[in-house]
Amino acid sequence: MKIAVVGSGYVGLVAAACFAEIGHNVICADADVQKITALNQGIIPIHEKFLPELIRRHCGTRLSFTTSTTDAVRASQVIFIAVGTPSMEAGAADLSFVESVARDIARSMNGFKLVVEKSTVPVYTSEWINRAMTLNGASGAQFEVASNPEFLREGTAVTDFLYPDRIVAGCNSQPAAAMMREIYEPLLNGSYYEVPGAIPRPADSAPIPQFIQTNARSAELIKHASNAFLAMKISFINAVANICEMVNADIEGVSRGIGADSRIGSKFLRAGLGYGGSCFPKDVAAFRLVAEECGYDFQLLNEVMRINLDQREAFLRKVRTALWTLKGKRLAVLGLAFKGDTDDIRESPAVAIVQDLLSRECSVMAYDPAAMDRTRAELQHKNLSYVDNPYTAASGADALLILTDWEEFATLDLTRIRSLLRYPIVLDGRNLYMPEAMTAHGLNYYSVGRAATTAQSVNEPALQSLAHYSNNFGAAMNGVPPSTGGEISATTYL
Ligand code: UGA
Repeated sequence: MKIAVVGSGYVGLVAAACFAEIGHNVICADADVQKITALNQGIIPIHEKFLPELIRRHCGTRLSFTTSTTDAVRASQVIFIAVGTPSMEAGAADLSFVESVARDIARSMNGFKLVVEKSTVPVYTSEWINRAMTLNGASGAQFEVASNPEFLREGTAVTDFLYPDRIVAGCNSQPAAAMMREIYEPLLNGSYYEVPGAIPRPADSAPIPQFIQTNARSAELIKHASNAFLAMKISFINAVANICEMVNADIEGVSRGIGADSRIGSKFLRAGLGYGGSCFPKDVAAFRLVAEECGYDFQLLNEVMRINLDQREAFLRKVRTALWTLKGKRLAVLGLAFKGDTDDIRESPAVAIVQDLLSRECSVMAYDPAAMDRTRAELQHKNLSYVDNPYTAASGADALLILTDWEEFATLDLTRIRSLLRYPIVLDGRNLYMPEAMTAHGLNYYSVGRAATTAQSVNEPALQSLAHYSNNFGAAMNGVPPSTGGEISATTYL
C-alpha cells in the first residue's frame, strides 16, 4: 500500500521504517527541514535498536523523507498522523499539531484517504479531526478517520512494532477496517516472520498478533487506559516496596510472588525510582483530565502520580541517610536516561535527582552510555561533570548512585569500584545487584524495597548499637515502632 506517515519523531520514524519493512511504499513527512535533510543523508536522530538498519535497508526504495505533507498525502492512500501531543500546563494534551496536520491533509486531497491517528490522543480526537478536515474543504465521502494506537517502548520499538501482542484498529466502518487489516497482513498471517533477513523475533513475543477491531473512540481509550494501567502497576509495586523496607521484607521476592499469578503477570512489577519518559507521566495526567471532562473523577490516577513522584523523594532521603549532609559531597551518578537502552531524558527520574543533588550543593560526576549529549544540552552546572565511563565517575566519590537500568551498570567490576570510591557506599535506584554481592565486595548497599546492607562494622559492638539507635530513630520518625533486633539495616558510618 502507499502510506504517508506525518511526523518523524520516535513513533513516526519507527512506524515509517517498519511499514516499509513489511512491504509498503512509505513517505515520511516532517516540517523540520534539518531533520529531513539529515534523514535523507542516513543520519538517524534517535538511539533505537534496528532502526538504522531498517532505514538503510529501505531508504531510496520503499522509504523516502520529505518536508511536504502535501506531497506525502497526494501520493498515499493511508495517512498516519504521528506528530507530538505534548502536555500543556494543566496536563491536557496539546492537539494543535494534530489539528494543523488535519488541515494540511484536507487541503491536499486527491482521492479517498484513510486518515489514521497514531499519536496518543484523548477520546473524541477522531471526531475533531473529522470536523477540522470538513471545515477545511474535504468532503465526508473522501475520507475516514481511524485510530491505530501504538504500543512501542523506546529501546525495543522496532521489535514491538513487528512482533506486537495486538494490533488495535479503531475503525467506524468495515472498509476502513479492511484497509487496516491489509496494512498489517504480513504480521497477521505470519508471512513477514518467514522472510529472510526479517528482524529477529524477541524471546517473549506472541507467535501471531491479535487483531482487535473496535470503533475509533474505544481505540483512543485503549491507548490511554493501557498506559495508565501500566503506570498504576509500577506505582503499586513501588508502594509495596516502601512497605517492604518498613518490615524488612524483600521486594524482589514479593514481586516474583505476585507476578507468578498469570492473572497479574510479572511484567512492569520492577520497583525503582518510578516511571518517567515522554509517555506515562503525560498520559496518566491527560487521562485523568479526559475522565474529568467526561464527568468521571478518576482519583486512582492521582494516587498513581503521587506515589510516582514520592519514589524520587524516598530515594533522596536514602542518599541523605547514607551520607548525612550533602553539601560539598562528591557523587558518582550512573544513568541519566529515563530507562536503559534509550538516549531519551524526558521526565527522567535520574535527571530530576541530579538536579536536586546539585541544588543541595553536591558535585556530580555523571555517566550514561547514550544520554549524555542530550543531558549536556539541557543541563549545565558548575558542579556537574560528564565523564566517559563509570570508573572515572566513581573515582574519589563519596558514594555511587545507580539511576538508570542500563545492562552496563549491572555488570560493573565491583572490586575496582570499591577501590575507587572514597567511601564504600552504593545507592541503587534500580535494584541491579544482589545485596550479598555488594557486601561481599565490601560495599554498603542501599536499594529499593530491600533492607540496606553494610559491609563494614557488623561485628563492632559500638557501631552496632549506634546503628540500632539510628535505625529506630529513623523508624520512629516515620511512625514505625522500633524493632527489637540488633541488625544493622539502614545506616552507614563514614
Ligand atoms: C511506554 C509503554 O510501555 C508503551 O507501550 C507505549 O507505547 C509508550 O509508553 C508510549 O505511549 O508511546 P516507554 O515510555 O518507552 O513505553 O517505556 P517503558 O518501558 O514503558 O517504561 C516507562 C517507565 O516505567 C520507565 O521510566 C521505566 O524505567 C519505568 N518502569 C517500567 C518501572 O519503573 N518499572 C517497571 O517494571 C517497568
